[in-house]
Amino acid sequence: MYDVWQIRKDFPILQHGVNGGPVVFLDTAASAQKPHQVLDKMRTVYETAYANAHRGSYTFAEEITTEFEAARRTVQNFVNAKEAREIIFTRNATESINLVAASWGEKNLHVGDEVLISQAEHHANLVPWQNICEKSGAKLVVFPIADDGSYIKEEYEKHLNERTKLVAITAMSNVLGTVFPIKEMVKSAHTYGAKILVDACQYAVHQKVDVQDWDCDFVAFSGHKTYGPTGIGVLYGKAEILSLMPPYQFGGDMIDHVTYQKTTFADIPARFEAGTAASVQAIGMAEGLKYMLALGMENIEAHEEELTNYATMRLNEVPRLKQVGTAIDKGGVFSFDVTGIHPQDLAFVLNKENVAVRTGHHCAEPLVNRMGYTSLTRASLGLYNTKEDIDALIAALLKAERFFRED
Ligand code: ALA
Repeated sequence: MYDVWQIRKDFPILQHGVNGGPVVFLDTAASAQKPHQVLDKMRTVYETAYANAHRGSYTFAEEITTEFEAARRTVQNFVNAKEAREIIFTRNATESINLVAASWGEKNLHVGDEVLISQAEHHANLVPWQNICEKSGAKLVVFPIADDGSYIKEEYEKHLNERTKLVAITAMSNVLGTVFPIKEMVKSAHTYGAKILVDACQYAVHQKVDVQDWDCDFVAFSGHKTYGPTGIGVLYGKAEILSLMPPYQFGGDMIDHVTYQKTTFADIPARFEAGTAASVQAIGMAEGLKYMLALGMENIEAHEEELTNYATMRLNEVPRLKQVGTAIDKGGVFSFDVTGIHPQDLAFVLNKENVAVRTGHHCAEPLVNRMGYTSLTRASLGLYNTKEDIDALIAALLKAERFFRED
């Protein structure tokens, strides 16, 4: 039984509220709120077992190293990776993608090669590829999505060919909510010998990631969206691919032996974790993942699906509101435009009603432009949202619509 009201009690910020009233938080796609289990765990580590991980031989150092490596195994379990060494801790998903672009890309991309992405990518899964393509002489190819935001299988397959060396694709769009059929896309990419990286930032919050079932080569996601802290992210990579990749950053802990003349490098995962690890953040991230696993990913998905259907229906009640991104297979992300009201003005009124949404191009400027806009308002769901949150959003939107209409 998924008791959302009980679950909400785990989130201190939802009790705290703003402006003397409860906050209707509808911006989980940007960053999720944190349950006390994550906050308590991080505080306990700092208070009882903190030191630099992997560096000391005293008790605190050993304890935090054990916790840090346990966090890696929690992530391994969360994504069903074969081995813990396939999990690299990074600063965030953006850094994970930059790591692959710089390390794998620099070694494997050459003139004549192609990197294939969709029109629905976040800047983090576009700009690093643009950059490495400019440097290597490879070509960045973008396949179109439909006007309603749906994936078009024929377009994807049409753009795949023997020159495609890498496909980089979001599993769920942060603007449109569109869910992409990763397993079948991986299969097609592999037919051409291409590697495939999945940006699972949005997907991992809502649905079960299974890298062995997907058979993808890389996955990136971040801690702050999966109910954990900021400053920590994950790159999953198949061990046989990561093992052949050169280091991305250089410094402490990523080496094997160093002389003034030459350095040899550590095996994975250490090779890609230069410098002091964000160990407490990694432990906090693992706690966020455990929190979701304890609730059950299938229960979270079912709860959010119900809310998604409810929100999709209720948003239609707002005059002049157009939903942008209405694919059949979509998650709890709702971008919309209300004719004649700038998203910033709309968000200002919503904020007065304690409704928190995001506005702008959502770090996906080409996608928002492709959908015919320069800026959109976006409401997004987390595991703690309720039908009452949607009702509050609709009431605030109706109020704003009346206000600007009368103005
Ligand atoms: N990528 C985050 C968002 O969609 C920041 O809001």
